[in-house]
Amino acid sequence: MIYSRIEGTGRYLPERIMTNADLEKMVDTSDEWIRTRTGVERRHIAGDDETTSDLCVKAAQAAMDAAGVTADDVDLIVIGTTTPDLIFPNIATLVQHRLGIKPCPAFSIEAACTGFIYALSTADKFMKAGETECALVIGAEVISKLVDWTDRSTCVLFGDGAGAAIVKPADEPGIVSSHLGADGQYKELLYYPVGASKDLAKAGVGDSKILMKGNEVFKVAVKTLGNVAAQTLEESGIDKSELDWLIPHQANMRIIQATAKRLGLSMEKVILTVQDHGNTSAASVPMALDVAIRDGRIKRGQLLLLEAFGGGFTWGSILMRY
Ligand code: UT7
Repeated sequence: MIYSRIEGTGRYLPERIMTNADLEKMVDTSDEWIRTRTGVERRHIAGDDETTSDLCVKAAQAAMDAAGVTADDVDLIVIGTTTPDLIFPNIATLVQHRLGIKPCPAFSIEAACTGFIYALSTADKFMKAGETECALVIGAEVISKLVDWTDRSTCVLFGDGAGAAIVKPADEPGIVSSHLGADGQYKELLYYPVGASKDLAKAGVGDSKILMKGNEVFKVAVKTLGNVAAQTLEESGIDKSELDWLIPHQANMRIIQATAKRLGLSMEKVILTVQDHGNTSAASVPMALDVAIRDGRIKRGQLLLLEAFGGGFTWGSILMRY
């Protein structure tokens, strides 16, 4: 049996930082409201000409350096994003070309905030099928360009960034198991109303924005993430006491606390970046992973649970040894 293991990670955050104080000048909000309701203190925002592939290339290069691989080694690229540079060609091909990676399968997965979990699970399946020896997996988003900066109910939540991982074969896990899910009945609770085949030509600046019934999303997120985390441990025969770290999607501190509580995990075992990154959608889990690997908290051999939840709804978890 071939398993897959993360050999190196990287991240890139745009240089511009927007604080809660900056937002107080833009909409009717307060630092106190944002901190207590979401946990966010600041977020990074891409420059006007900066695209998601720009962020991907920098995060990927950092992951390749950390793993000790070059562009010649990579034979699969999977990118989770909802904010690709173009409708086509897909963003993975843009990243492939810019990094000088040879012809190989390169595609993106659109699963909103769960994009990286879907992408990593897909790369793991390619590995188990013997179809890759070195996969570049990225979660990246420039979601600030979809945000209506006059809508206080959403603009305070999001940020931009990219997180990447190099995945290679191993004799033992690595990735122990992954669980993916989706339920399209919840589309109306969180969506962006314009797309390639719907109203694109009609849309003007300000016509389209992220539409979210935050309160209702919150309730389903807490329930679903608790369920998927418990299911992952149960089906893998792992007791929650064996977990070293929870690396959750960083949408809201209160959702993260509720998931940790359901797992009986102390918050000391939870990697938190929501305060510094905001909700970066598909980028949030791989960036949190990279932060904690680079600062030395996550060590080789430790057992990690990655989880995410997003528009669709989609959700997923990955249990893995680093
Ligand atoms: O990543 C994908 C999944 N997304 C999520 O997981 C997001 C899940 N939802 C959430 O994180 C939370 O629901 C929010 C942070 C979006 C909102 O927090 P909430 O505690 O659910 O607040 P709320 O929507 O119930 O609004 C409470 C009040 C409202 O005022 P009234 O009606 O009580 O007078 C809002 O108008 O807060 C008001 N409000 C704000 N006030 C100051 C909404 N946004 C703001 C704001 N500043 N930015």
